[in-house]
Amino acid sequence: MKRLLLLNGPNLNMLGKRENDIYGDFTLGDIENSLGTLLMEKGYKLECFQSNHEGELIDKLQESNGVFDGVIFNPAAYTHTSIALRDTIKAIQTPVIEVHISNVHQREEFRHKSLLAPVCYGQIVGLGITGYKLAAMAFLENRQKGMGF
Ligand code: DQA
Repeated sequence: MKRLLLLNGPNLNMLGKRENDIYGDFTLGDIENSLGTLLMEKGYKLECFQSNHEGELIDKLQESNGVFDGVIFNPAAYTHTSIALRDTIKAIQTPVIEVHISNVHQREEFRHKSLLAPVCYGQIVGLGITGYKLAAMAFLENRQKGMGF
């Protein structure tokens, strides 16, 4: 069975009670459940992991190598700061799609730059919870077409 990893970074465990005007009122559990169901229907298994710690995210990415077929990753604030996560994504073979719930380009300037996007398979920004589903669809459809990975 094909396996995808859903990885979420710092403060995303607070979705639903964090800046709802920006992030909406859904919880991380809502995202994990709806994505898991969608993927199960397509014959994929989803594993979910959230951490507020950079090193734990790095460990999980390293462990994904050769185990998962793709990673859907919202690195949250580490997007804009983490050379370490960038090096990890570059070092592994597993393709990573970067997802942001909010449109980071409409927000503070420090959110406009992603250190990770250049080493990711793709990036989805500003489409809310739908962005996670679109990332999953991209893995499914592009794999069938033999694109990229
Ligand atoms: C975010 C955007 C980041 O800039 C921010 O630090 C987050 C969430 C998003 O999903 O919109 O924590 O990744």
